[in-house]
Amino acid sequence: MKEKAAARAAELRELIAYHNKRYYQLDAPEISDAEYDALMQELRELEAAHPELMTPDSPTQRVGAAPSATFAKVRHSVPMLSLGNAFGEEDVRDFVERIRRFLRLPDSEEIVFTAEPKIDGLSMSLRYERGVLVTAATRGDGYEGEDVTANIRTLHDIPKKLKGHVPEICEVRGEVYMTRAAFRALNEQQAAAGKPLYANPRNSAAGSVRQLDPKITASRALGFFAYSWGALSHMPATTQSGMLEWLKGCGFATNPLMRVCRSVEELLAFHNEIGLARASLDYEIDGVVYKVDRLDWQERLGFVSRNPRWAIAHKFPAEKAVTRLNDIDIQVGRTGTLTPVAKLEPISVGGVVVSNATLHNEDYIRSLDVRIGDFVTIQRAGDVIPQVLGVVLEKRPPHATPYEFPRKCPCPLKTDVVRELTATGEQGARSRCTGEFACPFQKTEHLRHFVSRLAFDIEGLGEKQIQLFYEKGWVRAPADIFRLKARREALENEEGFGEVSVRKLLNAIEARREISLERFIYALGIRQVGETTARALARGYGSWQAFHDAALRVAKGDVEARQEMDALDQIGDTVIDSIAAYFNEAHNVAIVEDLTGKDASGQPLVRILDAERPAKDSPIAGKTVVFTGSLEKMTREEAKALAERLGAKVSGSVSKKTDFVVAGAEAGSKLKKATELGVQVLDEQQFLDLVNGANGASSGGGR
Ligand code: IVH
Repeated sequence: MKEKAAARAAELRELIAYHNKRYYQLDAPEISDAEYDALMQELRELEAAHPELMTPDSPTQRVGAAPSATFAKVRHSVPMLSLGNAFGEEDVRDFVERIRRFLRLPDSEEIVFTAEPKIDGLSMSLRYERGVLVTAATRGDGYEGEDVTANIRTLHDIPKKLKGHVPEICEVRGEVYMTRAAFRALNEQQAAAGKPLYANPRNSAAGSVRQLDPKITASRALGFFAYSWGALSHMPATTQSGMLEWLKGCGFATNPLMRVCRSVEELLAFHNEIGLARASLDYEIDGVVYKVDRLDWQERLGFVSRNPRWAIAHKFPAEKAVTRLNDIDIQVGRTGTLTPVAKLEPISVGGVVVSNATLHNEDYIRSLDVRIGDFVTIQRAGDVIPQVLGVVLEKRPPHATPYEFPRKCPCPLKTDVVRELTATGEQGARSRCTGEFACPFQKTEHLRHFVSRLAFDIEGLGEKQIQLFYEKGWVRAPADIFRLKARREALENEEGFGEVSVRKLLNAIEARREISLERFIYALGIRQVGETTARALARGYGSWQAFHDAALRVAKGDVEARQEMDALDQIGDTVIDSIAAYFNEAHNVAIVEDLTGKDASGQPLVRILDAERPAKDSPIAGKTVVFTGSLEKMTREEAKALAERLGAKVSGSVSKKTDFVVAGAEAGSKLKKATELGVQVLDEQQFLDLVNGANGASSGGGR
């Protein structure tokens, strides 16, 4: 028995150490908090029953994992400890009773508590000296954390300087969190870039703070709630609630839901209320925290092992459930992304009936090996779409059938499904429908892009109007926009459109019949062809005719046409493949032909202006130029535009391929490198002399 207990304790310690590392250092947990809590609880019970098994380095004696190696270590002047958990009403009553006994308070003596949400983020200790932020450190193992000051400084919610007269030393503690909306947006970005998804907002907040480049932290929407403190050179208040007021006055955000409670009943009512409000909060919480309000009592109560006697976390039950997977549906989003959706046997999860859950993408399904008929664990976190977490293998029925991700889009066109490429040309996680404009799921999105600011820029034709015209059958393809004038009467009879607004809209459309080649190419909505690429293509081919011919040849696999396209500046394989896929799709070709064709009266629907092509005969045509230092006679942008117009390639860095460097005042490392490599160096005037004449003579050349 005793040996068994010893073996289990060792096993639990190993497991906990492993999961600690996944959670605290890798920001990638494999098990839920509830499962983790269960492991800890089992170990605590074993150690209580067999005290001889207790070791000083047992995880029950520590908080979290040792700090990871990448950041400098910071020793906390006051340890950052953890909270004990309460899971039900009984635990809360016990907690209050323990306090009463410890302080020997008579039943008649009221104990005042603060109650506030327990934010599921990562705790942070901020040290201010004379009111100025000097260090920000993560919790780490509770004694030693990581120095993340540079990153934390980028958070809007964290004052760099405290307001008012504050104690000389102030250590403020609280929670960094990511809002659910920001979390969703971030995961979408991660998916688009083919990067791994974050499991939850806590992990994405932690991942965002533990970046080596503060710019990345700055780009992530992170918030901070202050709720506690470490060292303070003098105490500005005598109660927890008073301290929160003081923190607010210093310029911190404190949680607006905090409430002062005067009995167990009030605490439980608060827990209940917050539980109901949980789904509508914009940040994740996993319970509520009760703290004794009087700081002198907190002092007297002190700590037992690593937890304060004066505070407890009252957790919410996990919002998870197991149910049968009846089928997998494929949804096509507005941008053509195929998302597999689990069709579930309806089940109530935390009070909400769930019958759909996301399975993210093809790779996710494969990694879970989820089969139709399987029992799956699902999780619902607030208002986020529920997700399938895993398969309960012990319950797999013999007839469960493996799932084949479709190779054809479920849209009526049945187009080929392709895996999206990331910006670096690698295979991403998303599958896409190649129907583009022709796909009914994607059409309105494509039309919206078509009229957007950098494309046709048609005023008065927004998302709402596009949707309406699409539903009416008036605008199904881009060309239809330029045929709208024939529907003037129908438009005027539409609710919300009067004679005036219809006239305005039709005039706006008329005004855009003439369009530059680069805008036109951009408007087509070819994947990977953004504004810059469209410009490069327009400059490279000069006319729609030339680009269109080349694109069709590339789509047919013409090697020469492909090489020509590849030779253009800024155009590589990813873009070429995407252009080929677009012009390989007969529906797209038809739509483009319609748009570049004529209307009923024989007039062209749109007039695509030829691009200004860079000069071929200027003294710098085909040369690679680097600008460095500050220029006096023109801005860097002007200089760059001038050089490009004259057919030069402007690069940001000096290499052996650089033909010459134009060095302005205070040129530094680039000038040095040019000299080292023997690259020709010109000053601003020499550059102007070189291009002089060529400039005026060749503007508009090559048209
Ligand atoms: S008070 C002595 N208040 O929960 C401990 N903690 O499990 C003082 N947390 O490490 C902590 N919201 O990261 C406190 N309103 C809140 C909290 C909160 C989240 C976190 C914190 C702490 C962990 C304990």
